[in-house]
Amino acid sequence: MELSFRLPDINDDNLLKDYVREHHLNGETSVSASRGLCHMPFGEWVKQINKNTTFPQEIWGKTYTYLCFDCDKLIGLLDIRCELSENDRWIYGDIGYSVCPAERRKGYATKMLAFAVDVCREHKMKNVILGCYKDNIASARTIINNGGVLAKECDNYKKGKTSQYYIIDVY
Ligand SMILES: CC(C)(COP(=O)(O)OP(=O)(O)OC[C@H]1O[C@@H](n2cnc3c(N)ncnc32)[C@H](O)[C@@H]1OP(=O)(O)O)[C@@H](O)C(=O)NCCC(=O)NCCS
Repeated sequence: MELSFRLPDINDDNLLKDYVREHHLNGETSVSASRGLCHMPFGEWVKQINKNTTFPQEIWGKTYTYLCFDCDKLIGLLDIRCELSENDRWIYGDIGYSVCPAERRKGYATKMLAFAVDVCREHKMKNVILGCYKDNIASARTIINNGGVLAKECDNYKKGKTSQYYIIDVY
């Protein structure tokens, strides 16, 4: 497994269309860490994602939305938010990710999160907060694999689910 990470560019249109299509075919209506990809023209999305790394957005601060590749294959998306307010960290979490359905259960998300924690370390964050639904065993295991400790559980009445928040200490 040889993972590499980079920001999207305008030539990734078809790659990302396929990525989204795979999720839809798998019965998933939304794609985690895609930052509104399905809701705006691709060129605009690419511009926005690249701008987010240098010009902080109102709520999100600087964010890094990376495409994750194993060799040439797009494996996943990773969204790292290093400047959320303390309140928003406990709502949205500092990091989001998705792995394309055909590539799951191969250890990719665990490796992607390890990379994201390294990015947070470079940004001098002391810890990382991650949220996931309690029934999302795959995401919870990904977090625990990276040293995450359950810090909070609360009911999300809108979704009728329980949300969990984990903390990873960044040394
Ligand atoms: C969550 C997600 C990113 C995990 O990706 P992945 O590449 O399959 O994860 P990994 O292969 O690194 O596996 C991580 C752990 O989860 C476990 N796991 C993965 N899929 C699982 C499943 N469907 N059921 C139970 N456990 C599962 C793995 O066995 C592993 O645990 P282990 O190390 O204790 O054996 C992927 O399922 C996904 O994209 N889901 C939809 C988007 C999403 O939920 N994002 C997170 C939002 S909070």
